[in-house]
This record gives sequence, structure tokens and C-alpha cells, in this order.
Amino acid sequence: MSFRNGSSYKSGGGCGGGGGYGGGSRFSNGDSGYGKKSFGTSSYKNDFARTTKPDFSDLTPFVKEFYQPHPSVASRQPHEIEAYRAKHQITVKGKNVPDPIMKFGEVNFPDYVEAQILREGFSEPTSIQAQGWPIALSGRNMVGVAQTGSGKTLAYTLPAVLHINAQERLKQGDGPIALVLAPTRELAQQIQIVARDFGSSTHVRSTCVFGGAPRRQQAYDLRRGVEFLIATPGRLLDFLSEGTTNLRRCTYLVLDEADRMLDMGFEPQIRKIIEQIRPDRQVLMWSATWPTEIRNLANTFLGDFVQVNIGSLELSANKNILQIVDVCREDEKERKLYSLLQEIGQENEKRTIIFAMTKRKVDNLSRIIARAGWRAGAIHGDKSQADRDAVLRSFRNGKIDILVATDVAARGLDVDDVKFVVNYDYPSNSEDYIHRIGRTGRSSKTGTSYAFFTQENSRQARDLVNVLKEANQVVSAELESMASRGGGGGYKGGYGNRYGTFKGGFGGGRENRFGGGARKSFGEKREFGSSNGYGGGERSHKKFSDYS
Ligand SMILES: Nc1ncnc2c1ncn2[C@@H]1O[C@H](COP(=O)(O)OP(=O)(O)OP(=O)(O)O)[C@@H](O)[C@H]1O
Ligand SMILES: [Mg+2]
Repeated sequence: MSFRNGSSYKSGGGCGGGGGYGGGSRFSNGDSGYGKKSFGTSSYKNDFARTTKPDFSDLTPFVKEFYQPHPSVASRQPHEIEAYRAKHQITVKGKNVPDPIMKFGEVNFPDYVEAQILREGFSEPTSIQAQGWPIALSGRNMVGVAQTGSGKTLAYTLPAVLHINAQERLKQGDGPIALVLAPTRELAQQIQIVARDFGSSTHVRSTCVFGGAPRRQQAYDLRRGVEFLIATPGRLLDFLSEGTTNLRRCTYLVLDEADRMLDMGFEPQIRKIIEQIRPDRQVLMWSATWPTEIRNLANTFLGDFVQVNIGSLELSANKNILQIVDVCREDEKERKLYSLLQEIGQENEKRTIIFAMTKRKVDNLSRIIARAGWRAGAIHGDKSQADRDAVLRSFRNGKIDILVATDVAARGLDVDDVKFVVNYDYPSNSEDYIHRIGRTGRSSKTGTSYAFFTQENSRQARDLVNVLKEANQVVSAELESMASRGGGGGYKGGYGNRYGTFKGGFGGGRENRFGGGARKSFGEKREFGSSNGYGGGERSHKKFSDYS
């Protein structure tokens, strides 16, 4: 995709606006800027009530089933299909599920789509694409659950483009035909770039509306007419309530990061938007996690649907990621982070995302890290959107190596070659852990994640142990014992390896990239000159050179 290399990443073709993150969800925590604030824009609350339910009594028919299996797919024997699904760990649930395709050529994409696939250099469909495309192109409602970085964006974008091309052209005053809702402004912009790359040659106009940016350009695009709209919910509701656009023509609805979108924080907004869309619409929901809490709600929006899971049916992480968990004390984290960044600094590829729980902490950490000489930037919900976009652009194009962020960066972001994810603060639920670490190890790449896990997080130890075991990762005795205590028991201190090397200190002796003897270890005595623990001096000087 063009956003893979930073230089070609632009912020969604002059789009603006709203969005915001819905209120009080299980995915929100503290002042993370991802869930606590009430609905993003000021006007949204006031206009909420004004968005009335349209009259669906006299609907014009539309086409949603245009899938014709390729002859080689149609002639495939059931045992071949079963073998393919087993090999790719594809589980399907639902009636009359179409067979997967096995090669790009087996789905009749128009030439312009095939040309773009070639340009991207993709050799074969990912599992979620192989099974997802025939379902989506058959007009079925679906849920697609597949690991982070496994190509879900294209799994819904290409069918969207075909769906749009099968409909009557837009007339003056018509709203979009395909709508993708995403939880963050950055993710919405990223998705629009995929839509643009795969849709523009067929005159599918797309735009992105999201909070925090000026409305003028967004409103202009909407009024002029776009077939494909990518939006964060708050800003879209603003435009709907003002009458800038409408969803009367919308027949293809995607919830990306659907579990997040159906979580309490966003659910009222999503409900309000879906009410505007004709009931015979096609609905597609996607995520790497599918917690039980939202399943019933999802069902109410889906009606009859097909569910596709790739890999485990339980909560599971991308197996290209080496996961390292360090059980430690809160007051050890800064020192450990410093050592870790020194180690990473010696790597050729050092693009790193550090997650912290609160906006204040993100600001503090990024300041400390930058002062110590690393090239770092921060994004969180209190920063201006212009700042957030600029920092992410610098991260994508390599001007900075370290991005410090709240969970606003946890979902969906696809930045090429992120090699390390550090959970400075362990997230408040296991789904967020899966998504955060999933910023590395994307497509067929590998990556490493670190988590500082304190006694305060002990309630999550059991879940984490399950996730680690499912992904064949080493579980340290400390973590295992926290899990078996079920969250009880106080921190006793004295864990032998607290200042050990990564090799020892993380994951109980698992070999990893920091295992080499020549590497500096956590155990080396380091003095941190200043009160923040990262005081300047010679050491940080050295690190300047590592990153310049
Ligand atoms: N068939 C393919 N072969 C190789 N790479 C692909 C293929 N399809 C998509 N990709 C690339 O894989 C990367 C990850 O894709 P994408 O962002 O869609 O993942 P995702 O499943 O949505 O992940 P997340 O759960 O984190 O949102 C992108 O850079 C994309 O260009
Ligand atoms: Mg995604």
C-alpha cells in the first residue's frame, strides 16, 4: 500500500473533521484519550436528537450478489476445500458459505484491481482474503476475525469497490454507497489511502471524514459526492445531522475494529448511524479480537451472517511476534525502558512504539526519551490533530524512530517495519494487548514485543499466560505464579532476575534478539544522572549518535 513508505503517506486527500472517542468503555482507561471523553465534537451531542430515522417503505432495489465462482473454484472437490481450510486454519460458521479462492486469479477482479495488486507485489491472498472475498462479494453479512496485520483492510475494500461499481451512478445529493467506520482518525485516514489506491482508477471517489480537522474540505467532498466514505463516527454524525450528506444510498457497511466500535464507548453512535441505513444493507465486521461481550450486540446488526475465523477461536496473538514479558515493579520501569532502548538502538531496524496508559505519561515518557537523545514523538487524544498527523508522518517516513502513544495507536495502524512494541504500562484488557503488539510482525514480517507487568496487572496474568501459551511463547515462573494466584497475593519483591539481561530477565531464558553475550545487559550498573533517571552525560551522548 502506498502508506507503507512514509513519503507517499498523505493525510487522506484534504479531509477534515470530527470523530472523537466515545465514552466510558471497557477499552478505555484513565485519561488515555481513547474512550473516556464524551463524543468528540461539541455539536454532535446537540444534534444527536435531530438525526431522525428515515422512511424505508419505498426502497429502490440494489445489487449485492454478484459473485460468480471462477471455474476452477466451482470444480473443486469438497475434500480439497477442507484441506485448504485446514491448512490455513480457516473456520467458517453459517449457512451456504461460499468456497475460498486459492489464488488472486480465482476471483474475478477487474483489471485495474489486479494491476494494483501486482504493483503492491502481493503473491497470494492472505487466508482472510481467500475466504472473505467470496463471502463479501456474495452480498452476505459477515464477521471476519483474523490476526493483526493479516490483510483485513483489503478483505473488505476490494469487495467494496466492486459493490460500488455494480450500483447505479451517484446523482446530485446522493450520499456514499460504501461506508467504513473506524475508531480512530489515523486509522480512518490510512484506510482511505487503500480505498484510493484500489478505487481511483475506476472513478470510485473516496474521502475520509474524521474529527479534529477542518470541516470545510470534508463537507465539500461530501456535497460533491463520494461513492466510498471512510469515517470516524462522531464527525459523520455531525455531517448527517447537518444534512451535509445522507446514507440513503449506502448499501455496504463496514465496521473495522468492530469489537471496539460496538463497545460501550461507540455503540450509541454506531446505532444512530446504522439506523440511517436501509435494512437490506450488507454489513461486514472485522477485527483481530472478538470478545464475547459484544457478540450479541453484533448479531442484532448482522441478522443472518457468516463468521470466518483464522487461527484460534480464542483470543490469540499474531505468531510472528516474539512476546517477552518482564514481571517488575512500577519504579523499575523507567530504568528498564532505558536499557531496552539502548539495546534496540544497536539494531539496524529500530522502529519502536511504546504504549503508556495516560496522556500525561505519554508526554512525560516522550520528553524523557527525547532528552536522552532518541528521536521520538508522541500521540494521544489531547494533541491537536495536526500534531498527531505530523508525528505519525515522521514515524512512517523514518524521521523519528520511537512513537510513544496511548491506545489511540493500538488498533489498525500499519506502519512498515515497526520492529518493537513496548507495553510500558500493561493495557487494561487482553484485547488491547493483542492489538498493541500487533503493530509489529505485520504481513509476513517478524517483530518483538515487550511488556512490563507489575503486581497491579496481576488480574490479567491468567489471560496473558493463555495468550502466550497459545502463541508458543515462553512463560516465566513469575508470571505463571501470578496467574495461578489468580490475581491475589501481594508483591513480595526479590525476584531474582529483576535486573537480569533481557535473555534472563524476560521470559525465563528464552533466546531472543537480545540474547547475545556481547550485548549490554539490564544488569549493568547504570547511573542515571538526573532526577528523571535519564540524565544526560556521556551515555546519552552516545545514544544520540546511535540515532542520528
Ligand atoms: N495478500 C497480501 N499479501 C501480502 N501482503 C498483504 C496482502 N494483503 C495485504 N497485505 C499487506 O499487509 C499489511 C497489513 O494489512 P492490514 O493493515 O490490512 O492488516 P489488518 O489485518 O487490518 O491488521 P489489524 O488487525 O492490525 O488492523 C499491509 O501493509 C498490507 O498492504
Ligand atoms: Mg486493520
